[in-house]
Amino acid sequence: MSCTIVVGAQWGDEGKGKIIDILAANVDIIVRYQGGNNAGHTVVIGDEEFILHLIPSGILHRGKLCIIGNGVVIDPAALLSEIEMLRGRGIRVDENLMVSESAHVILPYHKVIDKRRGAEIGTTGRGIGPCYVDKMARCGIRMVDLVNKKCLKRKLTANLKGSTEFDFEKIYRQYIDYGKRMKGRLVNTSLILNRAISKNKRILFEGAQGTLLDVDHGTYPFVTSSSAVAGGALTGTGVGPTRIDRVVGVVKAYTTRVGEGPFPTEFKRGFMEDIRVRGQEFGATTGRPRRCGWFDVVIVKHAVMVNGLSEIAVTKLDVLDEMEKIKICTGYRYKGRIYRDFPADIDVLSYCRPVYEERNGWMQDTTSVERYRDLPGSAKAYLSRLSRLLNIEIGIVSVGSKRRQAFRVR
Ligand code: GDP
Ligand code: IMO
Ligand code: MG
Repeated sequence: MSCTIVVGAQWGDEGKGKIIDILAANVDIIVRYQGGNNAGHTVVIGDEEFILHLIPSGILHRGKLCIIGNGVVIDPAALLSEIEMLRGRGIRVDENLMVSESAHVILPYHKVIDKRRGAEIGTTGRGIGPCYVDKMARCGIRMVDLVNKKCLKRKLTANLKGSTEFDFEKIYRQYIDYGKRMKGRLVNTSLILNRAISKNKRILFEGAQGTLLDVDHGTYPFVTSSSAVAGGALTGTGVGPTRIDRVVGVVKAYTTRVGEGPFPTEFKRGFMEDIRVRGQEFGATTGRPRRCGWFDVVIVKHAVMVNGLSEIAVTKLDVLDEMEKIKICTGYRYKGRIYRDFPADIDVLSYCRPVYEERNGWMQDTTSVERYRDLPGSAKAYLSRLSRLLNIEIGIVSVGSKRRQAFRVR
């Protein structure tokens, strides 16, 4: 399989970083295609934990080319400090990291606006939404503009017109400096990717966020501002749909969400604490506690459909090891009606009562299981039930944060 897209099939933080790290071993190029440093992708190698925000998780593998595609929004300060962080930990980041000239740039005013207006949605405050707003309003500043003084001056002057809050000179000088420091990495990444495809190179498209945070297909308006679904991998890189061979959706064995917005299967307080501690459910980017709940088939079925998933990878099965009873949500009850398919109406999602089926847990430690067939019977039955309800095959199961704590199902 030469081109594989990996997407989150819930509300983000499904363990994409871990799955990417496993799949990256067998590819040549890993590319991020949307979002920005609102993402936090964790990879654990030995006893070392790495959290990647902008740089593809494949950077931790030697000899792979990593690309930040045109669909990503880049905070240059965050990118430069991530490069320094990796180098400081002995990871090579030289010509193995390329950045699209066309990617849009996050400026200080984007972050200020985001912090001011993002509270209702519970954004990460990284300036992601306001940067995409400027992109769509056609007044955005792109990476290539940082190496063109005249162009940057013109655009920045227009964007800051009438503002007394921001110091034009300071921003201008700072971003020209960023441009100088990144010049060698700025390239036409679509060309690199398409040339690589024609040479049968294998490419992994690393999604950020998740399907339910997608601006079109998520729980709007409680979403991020980019196309987090598989389609985003095409517009976000300039690779056409006929080139894609496989789409892998990553799901947790339960559900989590950070920030505001409806979450039908969210746990009540006591249970919430329990899973949060067991699953270490604290945001990799903002440190905020994640909201936790049971597995929701309605939302993942939606993700299977809108991403055209080929298979799913189920992570964090081990977090359910000590659960006596485990519930699966198979529908929503709202005003006397049962919904089996994802409703666009935010009121249904906000006020529905989940319809659950309940099963016995396995009450056994799975963290050292190395083969699917060695999982406890009830754990296999749980996975089979999810697979049947979602009508999709499970490709990988993960039972811990480390590299070796995962196996293929067949
Ligand atoms: P991402 O944004 O989708 O890459 O996910 P995050 O890195 O934000 O969050 C996933 C968290 O779960 C990280 O702390 C991972 O180290 C951890 N993790 C991944 N897979 C597993 C697993 O199978 N079991 C456990 N216990 N932790 C996991
Ligand atoms: P990864 O890639 C989980 C959430 C925020 C907020 C909403 C909008 O690690 O899975 P934004 O700053 O994007 O405008 O915030 O989206 N959010 C995430 N939640 N994982 C992420 O990324 C997220 N990126 C954004 O919490 O609710
Ligand atoms: Mg994350």
